[in-house]
Amino acid sequence: MNNAYGRLDAKFAQSLVDIVAAELNKNVNILDDRGVIIASFSRERIGQVHESGARMLKAGIIKEFYVSKEEERYLSGIRQGFNVPIMFENRCIGVIGVTGNQEMAEPYARLAARFVEANVQSNAQQEKLVRALQEKEELRSVFLNKIITIQEEERKRISRELHDETSQSLTSIIVGLRMLAEQVQSSEDKEKILKMRDLAVTTLEAVHHIAVELRPVLLDDLGLVAAAKKYIENYAKQYGISMHIDFSNLSRERFSPEIEITLYRILQEALTNIVKHAQATEVCVSLNKRQDKLILMVHDNGVGFNTEIVKNTHSHTCLGIYGMGERVALVEGTFNIKSAIGQGTKLFVEIPLRGKNNRVL
Ligand SMILES: Nc1ncnc2c1ncn2[C@@H]1O[C@H](COP(=O)(O)OP(=O)(O)OP(=O)(O)O)[C@@H](O)[C@H]1O
Ligand SMILES: [Mg+2]
Repeated sequence: MNNAYGRLDAKFAQSLVDIVAAELNKNVNILDDRGVIIASFSRERIGQVHESGARMLKAGIIKEFYVSKEEERYLSGIRQGFNVPIMFENRCIGVIGVTGNQEMAEPYARLAARFVEANVQSNAQQEKLVRALQEKEELRSVFLNKIITIQEEERKRISRELHDETSQSLTSIIVGLRMLAEQVQSSEDKEKILKMRDLAVTTLEAVHHIAVELRPVLLDDLGLVAAAKKYIENYAKQYGISMHIDFSNLSRERFSPEIEITLYRILQEALTNIVKHAQATEVCVSLNKRQDKLILMVHDNGVGFNTEIVKNTHSHTCLGIYGMGERVALVEGTFNIKSAIGQGTKLFVEIPLRGKNNRVL
């Protein structure tokens, strides 16, 4: 963004000059802080140096001055008129000059100077607000990044613990119960023990499911492609939706952990949304590399929805789509969702493999 803080706006200056000059039928010039004419009723003077103005500005003299008819004769290129400094935060940022005799030119020059000052001030205010907003936005994205990282680390830790500790213990219990069942004589006791074993098996499956949902070990060990394929396979089995997968130009290639987890979470949310909302019978998922980008597309043939309504409803319960967009922005990618009632939903994510500043993601 062009930094306009405390600087004269040439367009505004020219409009003001045109209005005052037309009113008075006299020439009006506005000089910047080095004495260069940035606005003038005589267009050919724009860009030229106003010698007496420049001399005063260079000498640090901040005061109104009048060029008389006599002075006009020996100052080359300078016309009779009244000149007023333009001030911003106790600094002289330019001069406005109105030609003509003092009586007529002085009030107009002063009024015009105040107008320019008000304009510079309001621009500076706006610039300050924009900067504050930018800083806030940067901070928000840093926080968000941190929250997501902490959340992922925590999920990873719990998932590993469920996988390595809880699952192992349950497996030992299952094996122990089976052995115990073999040792007891009474068929009634045997049946009770086997029932307990079955319960432990169901619990083990549930724990495994939670661990995978939290953070699949596959994602860290074998990467996005393997983890996504496995997730889709389980999903198709669980919900009976026909899945078409195209990961054709990716083998077992690995990408940065940020990209892998981002795309995995988006796939998870997209497929969860399809089960929750779409009533779809067919889903296509494609993940491909094109040039230096990874592209994920998820299409379903479900009921669709009005994206405008969802975008404009700031509900604190519908965070899935919003979260997908935020995650993609953190890895400098683009996120789009296209949908219409009765026409299914298409989700499109593009992530550069090389981020801004040539950072390898
Ligand atoms: N594939 C889809 N098919 C049909 N409607 C969808 C689909 N995906 C999203 N929607 C609609 O968009 C809305 C917002 O989705 P979003 O994922 O943001 O929230 P949610 O799924 O309702 O809640 P959560 O915060 O748990 O994700 C949904 O409530 C649903 O109406
Ligand atoms: Mg959702």
